[in-house]
Amino acid sequence: SSSVDAMLSAPAADRNKEPILEVLRHSVPSDRPLHALEISSGTGQHVTHFARALRNIIWQPTEYERESLSSIEAYRAHYQLDNVMPAVFLDASLPHQSWAGIRPESLDLILNINMMHISPLACTEGLFRGAGAVLKLQGLLLTYGPYAVNGQISPQSNIEFDRSLRQRNPEWGLRDISLLRSLAQKNGLFLEKTVDMPANNKCLLFRKESVV
Ligand SMILES: C[S@@+](CC[C@H](N)C(=O)[O-])C[C@H]1O[C@@H](n2cnc3c(N)ncnc32)[C@H](O)[C@@H]1O
Repeated sequence: SSSVDAMLSAPAADRNKEPILEVLRHSVPSDRPLHALEISSGTGQHVTHFARALRNIIWQPTEYERESLSSIEAYRAHYQLDNVMPAVFLDASLPHQSWAGIRPESLDLILNINMMHISPLACTEGLFRGAGAVLKLQGLLLTYGPYAVNGQISPQSNIEFDRSLRQRNPEWGLRDISLLRSLAQKNGLFLEKTVDMPANNKCLLFRKESVV
């Protein structure tokens, strides 16, 4: 059917959705209702996978690309999940006042998978600025992707990936965790935990500790 056709499939999302779910299981409470926002949901594979497993969380998927918004909607329709809200447009580089009516201090969790290195730095800056505003105190920003550490990228495959990204767009490229730490700090968050993930990726867990 046309709805199945709209369900895009990203091989990387298929591979990393289960390892990321394991990190979520260990870092997010399961005994009370929570509100989560996903920024750059892509195909919708992640949000539906997580929503099926973590039923106490109400998930808000968002995207910047029209085609992805249609794919997320097709996944929602396919799985008939009552804890996933309709997908809405969100541009991470814009101030949170333009983030689809999401209220300040209203969220327990923000998820952002494989966006920061494939978008201009303004998206990374906007992500942290917005997270500082819309997360509740003690809320969590979980990001996933490949990162540089103190100016170093490893292994060689990530060095080459970074180079190919910068060739495609000079504004793209792996972000350094030390830069992310300082963006976090400016916005009332701190890097609480780093988890090594398969294929030389990491999960970074930022906790909101103060109101800026
Ligand atoms: C490599 S894809 C990752 C998608 C998905 N999270 C995944 O892991 O499969 C990068 C995503 O960044 C999104 N993106 C690019 N610019 C953006 C912006 N300004 N605001 C929000 N998302 C953006 C793209 O639409 C795309 O979905």
